[in-house]
Amino acid sequence: MDKQGGEARRITIHTPEDFAGARRAGQLAAACLDMITAHVKPGVTTAELDQLCHDYMRDHGAVPATLGYRGYTASSCISINHVVCHGIPGERVLAEGDILNIDVTALLDGWHGDTSRMYTVGEVATRARLLIEVTHEAMMRGIAAARPGKHFGDIGHAIQSYAEKHRFSIVRDFCGHGIGRNFHEPPNVLHFGKPGEGPRLAPGMFFTIEPMVNAGRPEVKILDDGWTAVTRDRSLSAQFEHMVGITETGCEVFTLSPAGLHKPPYA
Ligand code: MF3
Ligand code: CO
Ligand code: CO
Repeated sequence: MDKQGGEARRITIHTPEDFAGARRAGQLAAACLDMITAHVKPGVTTAELDQLCHDYMRDHGAVPATLGYRGYTASSCISINHVVCHGIPGERVLAEGDILNIDVTALLDGWHGDTSRMYTVGEVATRARLLIEVTHEAMMRGIAAARPGKHFGDIGHAIQSYAEKHRFSIVRDFCGHGIGRNFHEPPNVLHFGKPGEGPRLAPGMFFTIEPMVNAGRPEVKILDDGWTAVTRDRSLSAQFEHMVGITETGCEVFTLSPAGLHKPPYA
């Protein structure tokens, strides 16, 4: 096997026109998360938040890519407290002290835009606030490592070393992914690793960085609904997700918040 490995050859290299398509989809997904911010408050159900995301995407000419994806039937994933990811919106009512991730993927003119953020309901515990802060910074350090010549292992290492320095743990069972005309495509983007490992980054690659960080142990289990992933030790979990495209000099973050609502507190 050559130094690029088998995987690098299967990573799509996108054109400047493709960047324009991904940028529009990413900005729409990010604007949807901006829109939902004011609705995250005690008493609202996650199904109501999901409906708002659905209508926002539809009203802007997009389709929620999760609708009908592998049997999933909602327009968002909403993961509260010890839910790691893929929480299914429903009758759960948000309460003071909850922390939650809302993850949306817009499909606009053939391009996917995938992003998620943490939200807080009223006053939340100090440790929950720290977990959210560290998870966001871990993602941003991963993004800072995303430039030509670097390897995917450099991204994973940047994320893992920062989270573990704070004695939190990185979930191993889920990863970021290539994205573009397809929702999920090669490569798997691990949120842990060693410098220099994995495929080399090259201009035109599109992928997500979406670390899940647990306050306790890293192990997860999937509930009987087949989707909801929770921490085995029921510790809190946090996640942020951005979608990036590698440029000649670094990367473009397609999913930056148009309103500047990058992380809580948003008020
Ligand atoms: N948006 C998630 C991701 O970041 C995927 C959700 S798939 C679903 O990759 F089917 F659970 F919605
Ligand atoms: Co994703
Ligand atoms: Co997502």
